[in-house]
Amino acid sequence: MDAVNQMKKAVGDAAAQRVKSGMVVGLGTGSTTVMAIKAIGERLASGDLKDIKGVPTSFQAIVLSRELGIPLVSLDEVEKIDIAIDGADEVDPQKNLIKGGGAAHTQEKLVDSLAEEFIVVVDSGKIVDKLGSTFLLPVEVMPMAITPVTRALTALGGQPELRMGVKKAGPVVTDQGNLVIDVKFNDIPNPAELEMKINNIPGVLENGLFVGVADIVLIGDVIDGQPSVR
Ligand code: A5P
Repeated sequence: MDAVNQMKKAVGDAAAQRVKSGMVVGLGTGSTTVMAIKAIGERLASGDLKDIKGVPTSFQAIVLSRELGIPLVSLDEVEKIDIAIDGADEVDPQKNLIKGGGAAHTQEKLVDSLAEEFIVVVDSGKIVDKLGSTFLLPVEVMPMAITPVTRALTALGGQPELRMGVKKAGPVVTDQGNLVIDVKFNDIPNPAELEMKINNIPGVLENGLFVGVADIVLIGDVIDGQPSVR
């Protein structure tokens, strides 16, 4: 396993250890969360963990949970989510995040913000001084609104580009059937304000700024060849 995946596994395992029997668990999306979901599945299979219910944030989380035998419920079936575990694309010193590299930020923000404790799992490469410095900001947009929303994002000072599929002809389509615009902002001085301004544009479903949502950030590292978590 390469160093980045060692970091992801270390942090995923550490997050899975925080899940207790009987909990309702928000199950995030992305390669780091996959490690956590697999570790939860292993704890369930060994009997170390019992009677948990997962609330998935994407089709990816649904498929993996089914494979691992993690029982799933919808938001209509639970009164609260005890803990949510999810990855991020950037984390700033105030624990604000950019998410949506996997185009799942809309369901993720819903589930993660409902959790009593939201644990972010990242490798150390995701830590930044300022949001937007390395990653474009994902914005989920209704297909019919793509042109006016693109203009509105430009008016906010961004450089928008429609996200295209890698192994698909045409644009990426989200689990909700929408499109994603990735926006380059050279600087995001006020993430809370930008989050609200973008979500106020008609036709925008959700953007990838998560401000004041994260409770705990677990950071995976590899030091002297040994994986560690801080
Ligand atoms: C999914 O839309 C994202 O928010 C992911 O949680 C984020 O991109 C982190 O993914 P990785 O753990 O694969 O880097």
